[in-house]
Amino acid sequence: MTKPGTAMSEPVAFPQNRTCPYHPPAAYDPLRTERPLTRVTLYDGRDVWLVTGHSAARDLLADPRLSSDRSRPAFPATTERFAAVRDRRVALLGADDPAHHTQRRMLVPTFTLKRATALRPRIQETVDRLLDAMEAEGPPAELVSAFALPLPSMVICTLLGVPYADHEFFEEQSRRLLRGPAPADTEDARNRLDAYLGELIDRKSEEPGDGLLDELIREQVREGGLDRAELVSLATLLLIAGHETTANMISLGTFTLLRHPERLAELRADPGLMSAAVEELLRFLSIVDGLLRVATEDIDIAGTTIRAGEGVLFSTSVINRDTAAYREPDALDWHRPARHHVAFGFGIHQCLGQNLARAEMEIALRSLVVRLPGLRLAAPADEIPFKPGDTIQGMLELPVTW
Ligand code: HEM
Repeated sequence: MTKPGTAMSEPVAFPQNRTCPYHPPAAYDPLRTERPLTRVTLYDGRDVWLVTGHSAARDLLADPRLSSDRSRPAFPATTERFAAVRDRRVALLGADDPAHHTQRRMLVPTFTLKRATALRPRIQETVDRLLDAMEAEGPPAELVSAFALPLPSMVICTLLGVPYADHEFFEEQSRRLLRGPAPADTEDARNRLDAYLGELIDRKSEEPGDGLLDELIREQVREGGLDRAELVSLATLLLIAGHETTANMISLGTFTLLRHPERLAELRADPGLMSAAVEELLRFLSIVDGLLRVATEDIDIAGTTIRAGEGVLFSTSVINRDTAAYREPDALDWHRPARHHVAFGFGIHQCLGQNLARAEMEIALRSLVVRLPGLRLAAPADEIPFKPGDTIQGMLELPVTW
């Protein structure tokens, strides 16, 4: 094995576009032989560590010497867009303990498995309604706008107490924030989202409703546990994380199923496999492919020292295809134990919404394949556009027919 960090070749640039929407970029192939960590070069010329090994990733993601605090000057930026908003406060995801722990504790009761299970009938109703409308208007249909995006948007709106009537506004700002054409778009989108949620929170303080934001105003803001700016930042994070990610998993998950007809046939024959399939799709697709940290102290790992102040990134797509953790990792296989993947991260920042996301994906994909047995792509697969490598991975459009 090559000693980490001493590869003969130049560091690979990170991030890069996927060649196929459901495989890690071909340009990362050299990284797959350089586990568990290697050097990569960011857009600004800075070299940072990229963690590629499964076991090292779990050790490092659980290590308090790696910080998520973007306001630290040495915190790495993977894009100019990210750099443009790095000085903005990001609650929870951008906080270290103890502040992180305090914020997370306020939210955990809303995102338990029990609460996600209780929401299932409501998620199923929403799925049925969306599929009714899609069937009434089609075939064909554009699955992202007809199904994959509205479902998680509706669910997160209900949960937070955000009016779904405003979905076009926040979906558009979220798109500009995550993959707008210029850094100024990111900044502007963040300002607009903050202003929108700030006004909503002020309105809710006068006329309370029954969503999570109302609960946080009642139980935390009024009691002094959270200030308004923190709540706005939390609300922005939850609204974006709550719809963008799951929407991408549904669209890319469907595309992947349609490109693997034997796996799809297995699911149609036994829809009980769906929860295992969702776990395997999470591993296989690894849509959040670049977690960011900075070392606050020297860390010895796998015969290498990460120095204080160095950037440390995690490629979930490469980590989730580590042969030391998965046999034949490039194969899509519902029968493997996939659950220890890092598609939801690991450690204190492990995805807060994972129970909800699993419930939505399972119900959405099961209903889609059971209700529409003739579902197929309505355009050649290699002509269907997908998202660039510097954002959350997923389909830009998904034309289907049945
Ligand atoms: C399939 C869909 C999803 C995927 C793949 C996903 C992935 C992730 C990942 C990788 C992280 C860790 C980031 C890091 O360590 O830097 C994360 C954190 C987070 N996710 Fe998700 N997520 C999904 C759905 C959701 C949903 C539905 C919500 C609902 C609100 C959500 C809310 C959050 C929050 C709040 C955090 C930050 C947690 C913390 O810092 O303590 N996610 N997610």
